[in-house]
Amino acid sequence: MATLVFNHEEIAARELKPELLELDGISRASIEAHYKLYEGYVNKRNEILRKLADVELSSANQVYSDVRAFKVDLTFAIGGIKNHEIYFEHLGGGGGDPEGAVGTLIERDFGGAEAWRADLKATGMAARGWAWTAYDWDEQRLFNYLGDTQNTYPIWNATPLVALDVYEHAYFLDYQTDRASYIDAFLNNLDWAVINGWVSKYQIQT
Ligand SMILES: [Fe+2]
Repeated sequence: MATLVFNHEEIAARELKPELLELDGISRASIEAHYKLYEGYVNKRNEILRKLADVELSSANQVYSDVRAFKVDLTFAIGGIKNHEIYFEHLGGGGGDPEGAVGTLIERDFGGAEAWRADLKATGMAARGWAWTAYDWDEQRLFNYLGDTQNTYPIWNATPLVALDVYEHAYFLDYQTDRASYIDAFLNNLDWAVINGWVSKYQIQT
């Protein structure tokens, strides 16, 4: 009987950088809540790949419903990993208007920092999970995308540069239902040097 074979090396959760525990307006408890979920996504990803490698293909329909469930859950877990790794990495800075190359891109594609912020905030207020500023390689421009969960709705061939978590765990401990104030705090802690490091690493042209 055929088996699905995956080269499924395990990955480990990245460590939190210490400055994340001392953000301005986002508490240590909130960051720890994200981190706990993030560790869960890493474990889930490893577990699903192990299970996929053990699937025995047969003509039974049950096998396809298992494969479907594993593959959908895998996108959720990997989305949760990638989204949080961006979130953790680009917080810990002093916020303010975008600087450097990403500032140039935002000026060009949104008409300025204020317009970019307004659009990202509106996207974050409208979303159920995430708002991302991503660079679309086909259109060669930035866009603010909306996400309802860890795996909806990224699009192909776009690279996220800002990941704003708006799940309830991101703000409820610090702001209860006042999501808008949490989004302001998020913006105040962005590290533009980290984001510019990605623009440079991915060779996004300004
Ligand atoms: Fe989170």
